Amino acid sequence: MKIEDIKENYYFETLTAEHDLSDFDCGDEDLNDFLKNDALAQQKEKLNVTKLVMYNGDIIGFASLLTDTLKLKNIKDENLRLKIKGKLNINSNKRGISAVKIGRLAINRKYSNKGLGSHILRSILNNLKKISENKVGFRFIIIEGYAKAFNFYVVRNGFEYLKKDEKSIKNIDFIMNRDPTKTFYLYLDLEKI
Ligand SMILES: CC(C)(COP(=O)(O)OP(=O)(O)OC[C@H]1O[C@@H](n2cnc3c(N)ncnc32)[C@H](O)[C@@H]1OP(=O)(O)O)[C@@H](O)C(=O)NCCC(=O)NCCS
Repeated sequence: MKIEDIKENYYFETLTAEHDLSDFDCGDEDLNDFLKNDALAQQKEKLNVTKLVMYNGDIIGFASLLTDTLKLKNIKDENLRLKIKGKLNINSNKRGISAVKIGRLAINRKYSNKGLGSHILRSILNNLKKISENKVGFRFIIIEGYAKAFNFYVVRNGFEYLKKDEKSIKNIDFIMNRDPTKTFYLYLDLEKI
């Protein structure tokens, strides 16, 4: 398998009933189950859209996208919080700022740990940034990430954790071992990419 060739040639397709999902396995039963049993039904109800990442007809991974908001009080960077409040002319930290959520992201086990997940995430972020510039305004990308994927999102791909999670993140190695599927809300400021 030539990773460089995959990186140059993978493409996105919106999930349809014609896609054969039977062989997909990302190593996490909940995520496999979502793709095989729930994603299309949720998409038909306009609750989210699932994009498959394809290469040579094979499904490398998928991501489901939907809208969300990030509460101002959850932004760690105080300067950014004050700046947005100023621009919106608001006082309350409870206000939600527009965002897109990557509800689920998974890479087929056959292709994982080769840098593809980061490449695909970067590509999704770049596409979303373009959309946010001239189609629909939103500032943040949100992910509800497993503790076991904390390094993938935060260390490797620049996501930040919420202000309220600062204390528990100090014990992230412990949490990863004891409760790897505990989830954390993570966010990324599109102005930083
Ligand atoms: C989490 C997930 C999306 C990451 O995708 P991936 O393709 O494995 O991601 P990458 O290869 O870019 O990075 C993963 C690890 O591979 C290793 N890696 C990255 N590039 C590599 C390369 N070129 N060669 C060897 N190893 C590499 C790194 O150690 C990295 O670990 P770290 O991020 O913990 O530091 C994928 O593993 C997955 O689907 N997991 C199961 C479902 C899941 O947990 N999804 C997250 C839901 S919140």
